[in-house]
Amino acid sequence: MTSADYNAWHRPVLLDETIEALAVRQDGLYVDLTAGGGGHSAAILEKLGGAGRLFSADRDKESLAVCQERLSQVETEGSFQTIHASFSDFPRWLDIEAGRAADGLLADLGVSSRQLDRGERGFSYLKDGPLDMRMNQEEGQSAAELLALIPEEELIALLRLYGEERYASSIARSIVKRREEGPITRTLDLADIVASAVPSRVRREGNPARQTFQALRMAVNREQQELAHLLMELPRVMAPGGRAVFISFHSLEDRMVKQAMRRWQDPCECPRDFPACICGKKALGRIVTARPVAASEEELAANPRSRSARLRAFEFGGTAS
Ligand SMILES: C[S@@+](CC[C@H](N)C(=O)[O-])C[C@H]1O[C@@H](n2cnc3c(N)ncnc32)[C@H](O)[C@@H]1O
Repeated sequence: MTSADYNAWHRPVLLDETIEALAVRQDGLYVDLTAGGGGHSAAILEKLGGAGRLFSADRDKESLAVCQERLSQVETEGSFQTIHASFSDFPRWLDIEAGRAADGLLADLGVSSRQLDRGERGFSYLKDGPLDMRMNQEEGQSAAELLALIPEEELIALLRLYGEERYASSIARSIVKRREEGPITRTLDLADIVASAVPSRVRREGNPARQTFQALRMAVNREQQELAHLLMELPRVMAPGGRAVFISFHSLEDRMVKQAMRRWQDPCECPRDFPACICGKKALGRIVTARPVAASEEELAANPRSRSARLRAFEFGGTAS
């Protein structure tokens, strides 16, 4: 495939901003935890010299195969390795494969355009396919299995939290009523159930199933839990001066990243009115991006999917500002 083909597969968002925030060093060890089609990974690899190494991981085997192919075409002196793994596994495999801390890490959260576009993966509310939605199809519960068993109250909470869905109660009620007649196993069946549960005014504003599909995808892939685990473990595996860059597409995820970075920069737990710190917790580094970085007008015009992207970066081992 050519570079344009790869971009049609998935166009990497905030690419220049990511490379700048990572401040890639030629001899560094870099980890891309969300390799996808390898757009960000390829740009990192290009910058590496002979001692530089890149680990590109994804829990989606199909994406990883595309990333592997793309990276093997990059002209570089650096080396790379692809790894089929989830965030939660990251510190373990980094210890085994590299045996040392990382100089840079990227997590470009969520799904790729390719995953969304392929009906057979079950992520799309526009294309018919099995209601699967698992990024790693070798483990866990599909969206159909989740919908078959989840109690109505839990489904309402899930649609509200991950989908920010206003009509969560009515959608959940319709799903529960419909599943009494038989399992919901196809994406377009679910999209129809959602459409019938919302006012016609909402149907005219855009596809009403978007938020329900987003919420189910996040639950099926335990995306919030994966991110929480990563944020907890990360400081342990970053080298002094190492930079971690996160791109989020959901306000919940961006908030989790923002709060973690604030905690790393200022971990002191002493009451605010104490004259001096007695907890002894020291800053782990500094926040690089005072404000989240968003896509430029130019990028928005070329790739509307970049609209909700927010990038935040943190440098470990530096001094807190
Ligand atoms: C937005 S895409 C990344 C695109 C990539 N940066 C590129 O340039 O092509 C997100 C990718 O992260 C993967 N992913 C999401 N959550 C993951 C997790 N917890 N562990 C590993 N991979 C994950 C998805 O399978 C998907 O391929």
